[in-house]
Amino acid sequence: MARVKFVCGNWKMHKTLGEAVALVDGLLASPIPHVEVGIAPPFTALHAVSKRLAGSKLVLAAQNLHFEAEGAYTGEVSAAMLADVGCRYAIVGHSERRQLFGETDAGCGKKVGAALRGGLRAILCVGETLAEREAQRTLEVVGRQLEAGLAEVEAGRALDVVVAYEPVWAIGTGKTATPAQAQEVHAFLRGRLAARFGAELASQLRLQYGGSVKPGNAAELFSQPDIDGGLIGGAALDVPSFLAICKAAG
Ligand code: PGA
Repeated sequence: MARVKFVCGNWKMHKTLGEAVALVDGLLASPIPHVEVGIAPPFTALHAVSKRLAGSKLVLAAQNLHFEAEGAYTGEVSAAMLADVGCRYAIVGHSERRQLFGETDAGCGKKVGAALRGGLRAILCVGETLAEREAQRTLEVVGRQLEAGLAEVEAGRALDVVVAYEPVWAIGTGKTATPAQAQEVHAFLRGRLAARFGAELASQLRLQYGGSVKPGNAAELFSQPDIDGGLIGGAALDVPSFLAICKAAG
């Protein structure tokens, strides 16, 4: 069964309410190609954007969640709250969360588990730093992040996980992994997924690439055999560039 490509825009800490609604209205005004397309606005815009998305094929994602179902966790948001506002996905373990907010491999595993229990799908991000790549540790690092991130995932829920390979050195830097570099890591990840869940499920799981994906490089990246779409940062903040990337996946 062919995997449906999935392109998701990660808006990070951008867009006030008015700006978020204007961006989503711009996307809705254009034909969306026959791939799955998601957007992850900041928490403050989720409700308004969710209302705008009603009846459309665009899906809503959150950029983060807490691993507990509820409780005294000031400033945090649960999976159930995100599902309630209309999210279908939550991004887990983005490298900015790992590097700037101290998120650990084990914590990411708990968040993926919480997302699935709370009725969401998870986009689990993995990726090596430049120092790790130069030390030839890329596969070791992404393998460790993958295993920890999937700690609470049963085979029956495997297809509710999307894995995003995002080399840290490519995020927001304008440096993209070459299609061959990205494909090598994606093939490795799919092999690990096959060892964990079996070849059949692994062949259906979707693996996104992220890190300076732009309209000019998206088609070549997405045509690699194990790259099933992308997680898009900067280029998702603008209607024409995000749509061009979505079309490149179609
Ligand atoms: P970028 O970000 O496209 O701006 O490099 C990608 C990401 O962080 O998901």
